[in-house]
Amino acid sequence: MPNTVVIGMQWGDEGKGKIVDLLCPAFDAVVRFQGGNNAGHTVKFGDRHFALHLVPSGVLHPGKKCVLGNGMVIHPASLFEELSGLVAAGVEVEGRLWISRRAHVILPQHIELDAARERARGGDAIGTTARGIGPAYEAKAGRYGLRVRDLSAHGLERLVEVALEVIGPQLEHLGTETAGPGETVAICRDWAARLDPYLGDVEELLNDWIDAGESLLFEGAQGTLLDLDHGTYPYVTSSSASVGGAATGTGVPPSRLDGVLGVLKAYTTRVGGGPFPTELAGGAGELLRERGNEFGTTTGRPRRCGWFDAVVARHTRRINGVDAIALTKLDVLDDLDEILVCTGYRLGGRVVRGLPSSLEELATAEPVYRRLPGWRETTVGTLDHDRLPARARAYVAAVEEEVGAPVALISSGPRREETVVRELPVVGRLVPGGAAGIRAHRDAAV
Ligand code: GDP
Ligand code: IMO
Ligand code: MG
Repeated sequence: MPNTVVIGMQWGDEGKGKIVDLLCPAFDAVVRFQGGNNAGHTVKFGDRHFALHLVPSGVLHPGKKCVLGNGMVIHPASLFEELSGLVAAGVEVEGRLWISRRAHVILPQHIELDAARERARGGDAIGTTARGIGPAYEAKAGRYGLRVRDLSAHGLERLVEVALEVIGPQLEHLGTETAGPGETVAICRDWAARLDPYLGDVEELLNDWIDAGESLLFEGAQGTLLDLDHGTYPYVTSSSASVGGAATGTGVPPSRLDGVLGVLKAYTTRVGGGPFPTELAGGAGELLRERGNEFGTTTGRPRRCGWFDAVVARHTRRINGVDAIALTKLDVLDDLDEILVCTGYRLGGRVVRGLPSSLEELATAEPVYRRLPGWRETTVGTLDHDRLPARARAYVAAVEEEVGAPVALISSGPRREETVVRELPVVGRLVPGGAAGIRAHRDAAV
């Protein structure tokens, strides 16, 4: 039974939440492996609407097992708030959420440091979500971080002291006052008690479940261009948002990962700072933002918008070994006369097709565009590839050709039930039950 990884192929917000929610009935468990509550994954079906940040999108399917892996950074207070919201909305969580004891904790001081640093950077700010993600991963790599299991350790006081010895002076330097060790220890103890029911030996459990023939769906957060190694550094997040993270962030070895579904928006968006070669200033960008409702799920910030960038998508197809693509938000392009796809960058006198590692080159790259005619009719809610306008099918084919992977799913609206599921052999390799199974879940009454 396949274990499949869902990965964002751009700068995040590709629609991963929607795709994971659609696919997860075919799997036994849904696993987050990196990031924290910087993520905002929207799931809609019928008239229901959920925004998930730390909890896997599988939680909306009764009985589905949900796991937070060791590669994540968890701010317990935000987790409790999210869980209460789910319970208030009638979602039963008890008994089906497992949190790795090895996951790292976001302390209040990490959040303060994230915000203070961004203020100090002024015009060079990364544009972080201010959730303390960078400082928490920094503490992990610097070996002064606290893991979930440490919150209930006898040596908690000393661990907090060591952490604050590093962070305290940085906060002081930036003019921010913070809680002392005593207060921080009290917060940690409260968190420990409330986290306790969810803690598990996740690394063992996941491998045991695979041994028993179960299938796991790995839910990526952020996107490959925000990956610490493979993204547009330093305008990235601090985790491994590409496929490698699914192994290091869970304890499931790469040899047990069977395939990768890459999620690609039919155009490009980015929140925060950093280079974005196909960004559209003014009218056209505004139109995409409005039609696509491109405002952050986590921070509410307007997302920067631009044309589809095949240089980016080819890079992330390769880095992740993407087997098939879920192409989202095709309907947002419905009204356009002409649609552009960037196929390469002009740099100086030459055209390159690979993604430059240099920030300066990315900032000055001039996109080379292939122009396609728009279809100028609605695709909202389309369920069959054959029913898409011919020009929309031609656009999908152009994406496949430029990126080098088949488009297996086409999202035609924000809701679970608004998705084209194509009858391709790769779907059966990635998802138990194949295309017919996904369609059955898609069409089930909600
Ligand atoms: P994620 O972070 O990758 O899960 O994506 P987000 O949920 O942050 O952002 C995607 C946004 O697009 C959400 O508001 C979704 O409801 C919406 N969305 C997803 N797929 C489609 C689609 O095919 N069409 C339209 N119009 N909206 C979509
Ligand atoms: P999902 O999972 C889009 C961006 C921030 C900023 C950079 C670093 O919903 O796709 P961080 O707070 O992580 O240190 O910020 O990364 N960013 C996201 N952009 N979608 C996300 O998550 C993001 N998570 C972080 O805007 O540019
Ligand atoms: Mg998002």
